[in-house]
Amino acid sequence: MQKLKGKTILFTGAFGLIGKEICTHYMNEGARVAWADIRIDYDTVAWLQTHFNEADFIVVEMDITNEQQVADGIAKIVAHFGTLDILVNNAAIDAKFDKTGMSQVNQSRFENYPLDLLRRSVEVNLTGTIIVTQAACRQMLDQGYGNIINVASTYSVVAPNQDLYDFGQGTQNYKPIDYIASKSFIPNFTRYIATFYAKNNIRCNAVVPHGIFNNHDEAFLTNFAKLSPLQRMANREELRGPFTLLASDESTYMTGSVLMVDGGWTAW
Ligand SMILES: NC(=O)c1ccc[n+]([C@@H]2O[C@H](COP(=O)([O-])OP(=O)(O)OC[C@H]3O[C@@H](n4cnc5c(N)ncnc54)[C@H](O)[C@@H]3O)[C@@H](O)[C@H]2O)c1
Repeated sequence: MQKLKGKTILFTGAFGLIGKEICTHYMNEGARVAWADIRIDYDTVAWLQTHFNEADFIVVEMDITNEQQVADGIAKIVAHFGTLDILVNNAAIDAKFDKTGMSQVNQSRFENYPLDLLRRSVEVNLTGTIIVTQAACRQMLDQGYGNIINVASTYSVVAPNQDLYDFGQGTQNYKPIDYIASKSFIPNFTRYIATFYAKNNIRCNAVVPHGIFNNHDEAFLTNFAKLSPLQRMANREELRGPFTLLASDESTYMTGSVLMVDGGWTAW
């Protein structure tokens, strides 16, 4: 039986690594999904058109820092689906240490880290998340219910162990402060929204993934294995269960929770 039959979902950052995996899974579970992103991946759109009914998804080009685009996007989604049952706040800027992302990482230590990069991440990961949530809550209040899922990170909860980013080539890399600063707010924002709207039948939880495998270098995988209780990165399919639980009616008594999906990373 499909666990999300008929539910309407706005998913931000839908064409990224986690977005593609979970949006597709949500649709396989019977949900109707709005794929929202600042950058549309037209190959994925073409694939969707051949695998799903056009009534069951919509593609929305949306910069989450742009209030007008967000408001217009939500209006378009409600016109298409009739409701907005679930918002997944997933879009974020994140320095990636996989083979393709490494070259874009700023190597600066904390004391020299450029503040313009900090401001950009805060604008997207923090302010953008609030902008989308405000707009979704207005719709959810009108319809009398809603469900919000925020995507956090282990670095919302603990500091990075910078040894993970030392690949033994004489250059120490760092997980930068812009990500830590802008994602640390997610757990408490989740509790803020959960309690603010508890009487309005809107619930809000966070999911905390860590280290999704995506073509990482051997040196990174070796470092990761040493620091992880499960001794490995996550496969993207391993996120399906937790994301589905929070979106489904099997979690109706969950609100304000922060669900760790980190292979035990934060357990020691
Ligand atoms: N990949 C991991 O290992 C990992 C681990 C922990 C947490 N996370 C979290 O998961 C979420 C998704 O990460 P991912 O790995 O899929 O990242 P990703 O970079 O693959 O995808 C992020 C998506 O967000 C979009 N985006 C960026 N700025 C935007 C904006 N202003 N408006 C709209 N969309 C925008 C990008 O275009 C991209 O498609 C993030 O919140 C990240 O912090 C990821």
